[in-house]
Amino acid sequence: MTDLHTTYLGLPLRSPLVASASPLTGHLESLLALQRSGAAAVVLPSLFEEEVEEESLRLHDQLETGALSFPEATDFFPALEFDDIGPMRHVKLTAAAKDALSVPVIASINGTTPSGWVHYAQLMQEAGADAIELNLYAVAADPWRSGASVEDGYLEVVRLVRGAIDVPLAVKLSPYLSSTAHFARRVVEAGADGLVLFNRFYQPDIDLDTLGVLPRVELSDSRELRLPLRWIGILRTQLPTTSLAATTGVHSGLDAAKALLVGADVVMMTSALLRHGPAHLTRVEAELVGWLAERDYVSVAQARGSTSHHKATDPAGFERANYLRTLASYRPVQQLPD
Ligand SMILES: Cc1cc2nc3c(=O)[nH]c(=O)nc-3n(C[C@H](O)[C@H](O)[C@H](O)COP(=O)(O)O)c2cc1C
Repeated sequence: MTDLHTTYLGLPLRSPLVASASPLTGHLESLLALQRSGAAAVVLPSLFEEEVEEESLRLHDQLETGALSFPEATDFFPALEFDDIGPMRHVKLTAAAKDALSVPVIASINGTTPSGWVHYAQLMQEAGADAIELNLYAVAADPWRSGASVEDGYLEVVRLVRGAIDVPLAVKLSPYLSSTAHFARRVVEAGADGLVLFNRFYQPDIDLDTLGVLPRVELSDSRELRLPLRWIGILRTQLPTTSLAATTGVHSGLDAAKALLVGADVVMMTSALLRHGPAHLTRVEAELVGWLAERDYVSVAQARGSTSHHKATDPAGFERANYLRTLASYRPVQQLPD
């Protein structure tokens, strides 16, 4: 039997297959289905600071308006589910998931203010989260703010949250950084136990009928795995004791095998699970086990990192030296017109 055990953020896991934040991890029923199908850990949907603040304000406004217009009406209010509003929805889900699941539960935060990041990370820890993932998703569109200043802001958040919680801390990074390896090192120095590479930026589209901006969430495919593959391959040797999670483009057991070979400790999946359902994890695990066994790997630990930048027979493949070779390798699919 192939030994699939791995460790992520210091948490021992039965396999490297983790369900990343998505609507599937937002309900107890689907969380249980993910665990039954083999998810070794789950990341809950992010608590978005602006969203929970807005919900809380709306509730406050409604109560105030009702109470001021008709003081006696408070008696007639239906019992409000305060638990489902604002941050309490996330607290309740985290506590329920912890109660019902035997696998580690990772809570995710996306804040807008330093105090918000810290407060909500503490709240999720108190609710029982085994680890916190900071979802550093922001669009740097301020023409007066330099890349260094944006990155310093992120690092401050990591430092503040690290100082405020005791559970392990992961940071989900954007691929749009000026110097990825430099920033990754500084995030680890600021206190992150693990990096999640990479967040997927959703590009809005334009509706030509309404001339409005359309939010577009398109699911990934396996080709998108190449970006995390390159960076995990490079970072594995630079950050030997940091947990590395591959996210974006893991759809099959073969995709998972590639991510492990470059040095990932775990692979995270969303699109494939949304497309095929939680049971898809069973197929991914079987394919991964089959591939490892075929190549005589007895464990995930043995396979991990064998193709990282440092160990690769062709390390240039990860870097610029490969750029020219890659361009030159293009073959037209058909004859170009004269
Ligand atoms: C509908 C949807 C909701 C998502 N919600 C979150 C979220 O709340 N927090 C987060 O960090 N990532 C979120 N993600 C991103 C996923 O966790 C994942 O990183 C991304 O989809 C890339 O992985 P994949 O290629 O396996 O889909 C979401 C993705 C989708 C499609």
